[in-house]
Parts: sequence; structure tokens; C-alpha cells
Amino acid sequence: MTRCLVIGKHGQVAQALAAVGGADVYAASREETDLRDADTLRRALDRHRPAFVINAGGFTKVDAAESEPDEAQALNVTGPEALARACSDAGAVLIHLSTDCVFDGRKASPYLASEVPNPLGVYGRTKLEGEQAVLAAVPQSLVVRVSWVFSRYAGNFVRTMLTAAQKRPVVTVVSDQIGGPTYAPDLARALLNMGEQAAEPGFAGWGLYHLAGDDTIGRADMARRIFEVSARLGGPVAEVTDILTADFPTPAERPLNARLDMRETARVFGVEIPDWMPGLETTVKALIAELAPPGQGAGKAG
Ligand SMILES: NC(=O)c1ccc[n+]([C@@H]2O[C@H](COP(=O)([O-])OP(=O)(O)OC[C@H]3O[C@@H](n4cnc5c(N)ncnc54)[C@H](OP(=O)(O)O)[C@@H]3O)[C@@H](O)[C@H]2O)c1
Repeated sequence: MTRCLVIGKHGQVAQALAAVGGADVYAASREETDLRDADTLRRALDRHRPAFVINAGGFTKVDAAESEPDEAQALNVTGPEALARACSDAGAVLIHLSTDCVFDGRKASPYLASEVPNPLGVYGRTKLEGEQAVLAAVPQSLVVRVSWVFSRYAGNFVRTMLTAAQKRPVVTVVSDQIGGPTYAPDLARALLNMGEQAAEPGFAGWGLYHLAGDDTIGRADMARRIFEVSARLGGPVAEVTDILTADFPTPAERPLNARLDMRETARVFGVEIPDWMPGLETTVKALIAELAPPGQGAGKAG
């Protein structure tokens, strides 16, 4: 019997959950638990009999969602709804992950979970519809919005910056998008703690929550922090040039303010997201080793 079944295996949050949870976590690839195929979800629940499920799978390519709305809908709305029903039938609690991109980012302070969303693009819209579909199908579920996640795992901003610095001396980064960086293993620890509490008989705190770091930093300044750490550790470094989001068009518009207020989550569950700088240090160290060309540095970092 598995304590926690994770939907997603190679994704960033899925890998962090597997690393932090050890033997209590089984992370299933899209072949084993395909969000487009409810039968695979039901079979996996039957096989693993988890106390709780964390859905870390979905259509996460923010720009590509604009040109692939049907795929985004299938993975972010239809699949999670089917998963919620399958979990309910199997007696497992579902934690479904969502995003700050449900907001338009025009607010000046961090968003509360109770505030009215207004997504700017297909990704945010489908994630919002997914939240609503999950909670409508099975109100005894948790939907947890996360933001600005980074780690050594999969694709994320830290990896993007270090890879860019290997190729060019100057990188141009938006300065007016702000958020609260969240180290994936810290996020994973908090999610597993929440899952354990929600799986207890008598738990009543169902609904929508925010879980993200409470520091506030712009993307360009985050890039500078990454390169400061990398320089100290002997890794790739680039000069950072600021650009405004308005001068850097992308297929999907991003919220300028991605900050999520998680005080209610801390009050209900007693979880916290620690300062992200120790996580950044660990991440940069691991990625320097992984990205080093063969024969230079420590090679691939396990
Ligand atoms: N990263 C962030 O900064 C961030 C910010 C806001 C919200 N989120 C949310 O957090 C969650 C996890 O994000 P992430 O960054 O870990 O994503 P990610 O690294 O892009 O991983 C995506 C995951 O989706 C899985 N997947 C793709 N197609 C699937 C299918 N048909 N059926 C089942 N699974 C499928 C992949 O499966 P495989 O393992 O088989 O490849 C992979 O594990 C998502 O809900 C995302 O919206 C993330």
C-alpha cells in the first residue's frame, strides 16, 4: 500500500515529492496515470490504495497552451475532474495543484485564496476551470495554488538562467514580474504534511489554499541572485539586463504580481515555506554539477 500517489513522475514537483517522501510516495508517469484516460487513474488507485493523491500533472506550458487549448483543457480540467471522482470512489483524498496564473496580477499585494480570479491566458483559464471542476465534483478535496517553484528537478527558472549563462555573457530578464520563489522540496514537505492531515478522520478544512514563499523579488533580481550564488560556487555567470514585460511579448501574458498569501494555509495546517535562499544554494550547486560539460567539474549530479 502506498501512502501517497503522485500524478506525474518526471515533473518538477513530482520529483521533489518522490525525493522528500521516500517510500511513502509513489510517483506515476503519464503512461501509468494518464489524465486523458480515467480508466488508468482508477486502475492505479486500485493498485496502490493510497490514503491521499497529489496531482502534480497537467499541461504546464504557459505559452504553448495558447495554441493547444484542447490539450490544456483535457489535462487541466477534464482529467482533474475525473481524478477527483476516482479518488472519491477509492476513498482517497485528492490534493490538486493550481497556479498564481488564475489571477491577472494587477493587485499591489499578495493574493488571498478568497480573491476573485481573472486569468490572462488559456493556461490560467484552464487551471481555474480545473480548480472549480475538482471542488464541484468532490468538495472534500484540497486545491493548492503554488507559484515560482524552483529546484534541481525538471525545467524551471534557475535551470533556464544557468543554461543561458553557459551560452551567452548577457541575459535579458523581465524586471517587473514579481513573485515569491518556492523551493520544490520545501513545497513537497508542506504538501505531504497537508495530505497526512487531510487523510485523518474528521478533517474538515477542505477547499482552496495558497502555498508559496513569502519573499518578494522581481525576475531580473532573482536572476542576479542565481548568478551571485553560481559565481561563488564556480558555475556559469551572466550579466542581467532588465526589460519590461510590455517590451518582451510572449504568446501568453503573465501576471505581473504572482505573490500568493499563504497565511490561511499556515493557520489551518501549521505548514510554512522557509526562506528560499538555502534552497537556491542547494539547487545551483546541483545544477552546476549536472550542467558541467563531460570531463569538467563533478559531472552529472545523481
Ligand atoms: N513550476 C511552477 O513554478 C508552478 C507554478 C504554478 C503552478 N504550478 C503547478 O504545479 C503543478 C506541477 O507543476 P510542475 O512545475 O511540476 O510541472 P512540470 O515540471 O511541467 O511537470 C508536468 C507533469 O505533468 C505530467 N503530465 C503531462 N501529461 C500528462 C498526462 N497526460 N497525464 C498525467 N500526467 C501528465 C508530466 O508527466 P511525466 O512525469 O510522465 O512527464 C509531468 O510530471 C502543475 O499543476 C502546475 O500547474 C507550477
